[in-house]
Amino acid sequence: MEASIPLSTYGTYGIYGVFAAGLAIYSASLILYRLSLHPLAGYPGPWVAAATGWYEFYYDVVRRGKYVYKIEEMHKRYGPILRINPHEIVINDPEFYNDVYVAANTRRTAIWPRYRTGIGFDGKSSLPGSHTMTQNHELHRRRRKPFEPFFSRLGIDKMEPMIIEETKLLNDRLRSFSGSKHVIRLDHVFSAFAGDVVGRICCESPPDMMNHPEFGKDWHNLIENIVRQLLLFMHIPQLVSLARMIPTGFLLRVYPGAAGFNVFRQLAIHHIVDAKREKLSAEKVQQDTKSSVFRHILSSGMPDSECDTERLSREAMVLFGAGTATTARTMGFMCYYILHNPHMGDRLTEELKDVMAGYPNKNLPTWQELERLPYLHAMIKEGLRLSYGVMRRLPRISPDVALQYKQWTIPAGTPVGMGAYSLHTDPEVYPEPFKFIPERWLGQYNPNMNRNWVPFTRGSRNCLGMNLAYAEMYWALSVLFRPGAPKLQLFETDESDISQSVDFLMPLPKLDSRGTRVTVH
Ligand code: HEM
Repeated sequence: MEASIPLSTYGTYGIYGVFAAGLAIYSASLILYRLSLHPLAGYPGPWVAAATGWYEFYYDVVRRGKYVYKIEEMHKRYGPILRINPHEIVINDPEFYNDVYVAANTRRTAIWPRYRTGIGFDGKSSLPGSHTMTQNHELHRRRRKPFEPFFSRLGIDKMEPMIIEETKLLNDRLRSFSGSKHVIRLDHVFSAFAGDVVGRICCESPPDMMNHPEFGKDWHNLIENIVRQLLLFMHIPQLVSLARMIPTGFLLRVYPGAAGFNVFRQLAIHHIVDAKREKLSAEKVQQDTKSSVFRHILSSGMPDSECDTERLSREAMVLFGAGTATTARTMGFMCYYILHNPHMGDRLTEELKDVMAGYPNKNLPTWQELERLPYLHAMIKEGLRLSYGVMRRLPRISPDVALQYKQWTIPAGTPVGMGAYSLHTDPEVYPEPFKFIPERWLGQYNPNMNRNWVPFTRGSRNCLGMNLAYAEMYWALSVLFRPGAPKLQLFETDESDISQSVDFLMPLPKLDSRGTRVTVH
């Protein structure tokens, strides 16, 4: 006798069938629309990238941060302008850079929120977010503007004594390992150095990572673990909401390093609350080495609605995140090359001989004087060129007017990006582009080298902390390579441990990198 299939089973199959057919029809129509009627239909690029975001997902998530290289290949095949996913245009033409990344008085610029998804400061919860996560041009300006004087060249001059104090700690801590054969990771040391500087700027009291036995190891690992997940969160933003549902207590039990975030957030909140209370008794706050950026913001005339403690603490978290990882990575990167090539170290030491003779007590140069030392300057230019800042395109949106690139009229509202990776490795501008050659920046050099050099991007959403990063890098290298500095020696580190090869929004070296490791002699 035949076994009978219950009617309800047919019903269930029927529902699945209808769902599958619906999904197939929806997907086919969407693909058809993207390839034929979408405003970007007809732009150069592989049809599959234009049809579906899964193409980018494959290179980003499955192949782990490799879309930047695929885009390079596409440029070779299709030319300088590409549609790299259904919504986004990428251009590889340095002459067009300043048309995309414009100053606020040239044109309004919005960001594409997709790129901020997953970082976690996106203002999706009840409070508005930090300036960098703010999509709207005017609101971004209002939120960022009060920070600008603080991070201007003049602003950094005022905080220079604090930066010098931190370099003394850097010097003394490294010296304390002299002759011990103890292996130190310079990327952890620089995370601590940069983190304590930003900590003092945000909270007046630093997280004091420089005095921690393993320097900024936890903070470094935390950022790196987050960075490794960013592309997955960017492609599947629903995961961000899911991740937010994980109770903090549980998270801290399975991953104690995450406490670093909370520690800093609490420091920031306490400081902002104190600063608000003290502001009531002292109306105008002068920026000096002791006054934090938040005291300055609170006395800048920013409306109360924008000075909510939680919102400001998000600004602090952004400054802390943005201000540690990139600077630390660039410093570790440069140190590798200087230590690996003794002639570079010797030349630097010779150049620093006079200007640093009185360090740490007398006749100290300013960071702007250090900037004028040709070889040191060249070293930092080359370090930033090959560590890229951010490797990938950083899409900007012109919300009101179309952009004209050659025969292409890019509709208003389209995310358009250009990547430091392609500009910084253009062989016509930088011969042997993947070689670290500071000397290329000495004497008369091709002016296009400066045109192509964009580690901090440009325009109204460029790096807020650029001058701070310069001051930290000039000072740290000057202290570490002056005559009489602690003698660092590389320990089992090769170029693959430091060269940026994976593009996870923030570039990273190979995933099993052991960092820049040294001993002190
Ligand atoms: C070598 C060091 C650094 C490099 C290469 C670098 C690079 C960059 C780049 C490429 C951007 C643009 C990101 C985007 O468009 O999505 C950016 C933005 C930003 N950076 Fe930096 N950065 C460095 C250090 C710092 C430091 C020390 C701070 C501050 C404390 C900082 C704070 C910021 C902030 C707040 C933004 C967002 C600006 C906005 O959205 O208006 N950065 N940085």
